[in-house]
Amino acid sequence: MRSIRVALFAATLASSALAAVSLAAEGTDAENASPIYGVTIPEGYRQWELIGPAQEAEPLNELRAVLGNPTAIKAYQSGTLPFPDGTILVKLAWKHVQSTEFEPASVPGAATTVQVMVKDSKRYPDSGGWGFGRFINGKPVDEAQHQTCFACHEARVKGHDFVFTRWAP
Ligand code: HEC
Repeated sequence: MRSIRVALFAATLASSALAAVSLAAEGTDAENASPIYGVTIPEGYRQWELIGPAQEAEPLNELRAVLGNPTAIKAYQSGTLPFPDGTILVKLAWKHVQSTEFEPASVPGAATTVQVMVKDSKRYPDSGGWGFGRFINGKPVDEAQHQTCFACHEARVKGHDFVFTRWAP
């Protein structure tokens, strides 16, 4: 009997330690997740495939690259619309600067934002199935900025499942 109690006690201790660890992990997630949507920067995204580049004129004056996870790439290649749940798109952006080594060339300067769209139609029914996140130095920007995301994507590219970027040939 005693050994059962000891075992039970040990099990309780172990599970509360686990609970504490997972709570701590949630704490950091909350800090790194976007307001409204709870989107975080996906691990390993820098190794994902390129969908297309973009250039933004003044005042932002940026070079951009949109990358997609394997689900996104598959959907682009097969022309699947709407994008399936599990699709993740990441847009990197840099200041657009003149090369110091070759005048006509524009090259990426300082990194500005990382932006993420995650497709999860059950979790995000009010924003076309997409969750949005904009990050500066790895940290999400404020709620006011996140209130603008879907409105612009909805107004311009509703017919392409709210996604601007097309596959660069
Ligand atoms: C005023 C319009 C506008 C707003 C607001 C906006 N976007 Fe976009 N977004 C664009 C355009 C245009 C593109 C196409 C690529 C480019 O030109 O940079 C784009 C592209 C993207 C992409 C790549 C996938 C795609 O649709 O091409 C992501 C990810 C993204 N935006 C996330 C966000 C997030 C997150 C927010 C809010 C914090 C946001 N966007 C707000 C206009 C907007």
